[in-house]
Amino acid sequence: MRVIVLLGAPGAGKGTQAAVLAPRLNLLHLATGDMFRAAAAAGTRIGLEAKAYMDRGELVPDHITVRMLLDRLTASDATHGVILDGFPRTPAQARALDVALDERRSGVEEAILIDVPAEELVRRLSGRRLCRAAGHIYNEVTNPPHVPGECDIDGSELYQRADDQLETVKARLDQQIPELLDVCAHYEAQGKLRTVDGMRPIEEVTEELVAALSQPSESRA
Ligand code: AP5
Repeated sequence: MRVIVLLGAPGAGKGTQAAVLAPRLNLLHLATGDMFRAAAAAGTRIGLEAKAYMDRGELVPDHITVRMLLDRLTASDATHGVILDGFPRTPAQARALDVALDERRSGVEEAILIDVPAEELVRRLSGRRLCRAAGHIYNEVTNPPHVPGECDIDGSELYQRADDQLETVKARLDQQIPELLDVCAHYEAQGKLRTVDGMRPIEEVTEELVAALSQPSESRA
């Protein structure tokens, strides 16, 4: 099972890149944020519990997040391989993933950090808009739709995520960046961390990621 981890602060571009990379590399895109939002919309116990943390910009506790993600990894559509977007977000999550993959005689192939400075993250999150039908990602400034307020792909209405309000954005960055650095250290210690410059245009970041992930593993930097 091929497992790629996309790391980055909130707004770095993980979701944007994973949505393009997954079909190109024939991998399943799994985003814990999307899973929590779907569970909250469905009104499940886990979803409602997670929503309280998400609304405050805090991480959902590890015991909830790890179980949800590891359960999802056992589904038949994940057997070929996955791109993990937004997981792991704490060292405990990273260790739990290592153990679960080790039991399947697998492991994280590479963890790629999309590196973007904090001021730019605030700008990107404040301008982000998503489509109601499928969650396609736009940005009012950096990646606008052809028709304002409307998804280019399915025509559905664009909306702003509740946690993209400025105060919650600041809370997310303050609370989540220290944990991100610890997760980066976890993969660096394993020789699996690669950093890409996330300040370049979306397509350039994509091409660097595709090139990196298309090399045979033994020749990767
Ligand atoms: P989640 O949904 O994962 O949010 P996040 O990590 O905060 O990441 P985002 O979705 O905000 O950003 P992104 O990096 O995907 O950027 P995007 O591609 O959209 O998590 C939400 C919440 O759920 C968390 O706060 C937490 O509470 C909880 N949660 C989730 N996973 C968890 C876990 N493992 N443990 C505990 N709790 C968890 O891009 C952002 C914007 O920038 C877009 O508008 C896009 O168009 C634009 N953009 C992208 N790339 C570029 C570029 N190169 N140049 C210019 N603009 C760009």
